Amino acid sequence: MADIEGLTTRYRALAPNILKMATDGKRILVVTHIDADGLCSGSAVFASLKRKGANVALRTVPDLDAKTIGSLKGLGYEFHIFTDLGSTLVTELEGTFGKDFLVMDHHQISEADIRSPNVVNAWAYGFDGGKDACSSAIAYLFAVTLDWANADLSPLAVVGAVADRQDAGPGRSLTGLNRVALADAQSRGLMSVTTDLMFTGRETRPIHEAVALTSTPLLKGLTGSKDAVLALLHQSGLPLKDGGSWRTVSSLSKGEKESLVETLAAALGSQEGASDALAGIFGEVYTLRFEDAFTPLRDAREFGTLLNSCGRMGVPGIGIAICLGDRSHALSAAMKSLSEYRGGINKALSGLASEPSRMERHGSVVFVNGEGLVDEKLLGPVISILTSTPEFRDKVVVGRATGRDAEVKISSRVGDAFAGEVNLGLVMKEAAEAVEGVGGGHEMAAGAKIPSSRTETFSRAVLARVAG
Ligand code: C5P
Repeated sequence: MADIEGLTTRYRALAPNILKMATDGKRILVVTHIDADGLCSGSAVFASLKRKGANVALRTVPDLDAKTIGSLKGLGYEFHIFTDLGSTLVTELEGTFGKDFLVMDHHQISEADIRSPNVVNAWAYGFDGGKDACSSAIAYLFAVTLDWANADLSPLAVVGAVADRQDAGPGRSLTGLNRVALADAQSRGLMSVTTDLMFTGRETRPIHEAVALTSTPLLKGLTGSKDAVLALLHQSGLPLKDGGSWRTVSSLSKGEKESLVETLAAALGSQEGASDALAGIFGEVYTLRFEDAFTPLRDAREFGTLLNSCGRMGVPGIGIAICLGDRSHALSAAMKSLSEYRGGINKALSGLASEPSRMERHGSVVFVNGEGLVDEKLLGPVISILTSTPEFRDKVVVGRATGRDAEVKISSRVGDAFAGEVNLGLVMKEAAEAVEGVGGGHEMAAGAKIPSSRTETFSRAVLARVAG
């Protein structure tokens, strides 16, 4: 059972020591992951400590391993807080930092490590860390336990949650601890919740582009076909422009939204899955009320995509600046990284499509060889998109890309129509450890880093575990 009280009590017990470190001027380092949930959680912890006058710095890492832990030790900080990572490396962290660290995370963790005094993990408090509590929500609860004034950070928890695809409740809603943060954001007037059309880029993209960009749900014949959607909408007579500017989905009136849905319904016709797809375009929309209209910061999902692009395109600091309130230079730099991110993903997907030999099928498992083609930082989003396509929705997709230092980066996802049972976090951990790599994550999405010379053995270890 979810135990928010237990989590709050734990933070209350930890707070005096952390506040003392802040007043004593101890050098504290927050280390976080580069994805949106990492940027939001790291920023929330950093901001809450900075506001208490702490001598605190914030760093991002693409992933954590023994080598990275060693180099962090070399920086000479007196206390270390890890957000959105660390759960599979507690022994290494203890060996390096002794008691001078704290992990705040939601990834799966072993029974032994979950009890560590240096770990606060969602699973220990009855939350499913893959659905009910992202790291940003775990970090947010820490921030508001330190000081209720930090409730202004609640939108970061919502952005982290939707970016980590935790909007898995009915109608794409947030649940568990994520919902608690959402309720705080609503009660402070910072966010509003409506049931509305969910198209990707609903606040910023021309309507036809928003429809064509939407892959959850997949709209057969429309997703990925910008020109076809434009022609369809022209025919329908829906006014797509206001003066010289393209209108957005969010700017449509209720009646116009209804007529857009009717047009799309007619286009989808009676094809298989059409009614599910249509139902799937409605869901909970989370709006950041104080962000400017027509920016990607107004819709929590767009905000999350923007942050993911910053992290994945090598400018996580820009994402952090945005989380901490910068709306000038950082926003324009982030928009640039977003367009590069989309371009990079499209290029990788079309590269894979033109080289089918890169897809190796073994029953319900598909190995995707992205070595030399897919940038390791884009591998996760690329594998997520592939797994959502009709071809792979019932599969477990395991992708690999060339990493640094003779290593291979692995990203894996379970399709939502997969008929078997698999816990990918566990599979990645065990298969990676079998080849002296590191791996872990969630039931439906996990990753690893392994030596490049051991790819075959790793693949065999994955197959043995997924098959049974
Ligand atoms: O990198 P990718 O997006 O594929 O990662 C999927 C999930 O697995 C993320 O939540 C990531 O933090 C987690 N992961 C992990 N340990 C690794 C690699 C990835 O927990 N070594």
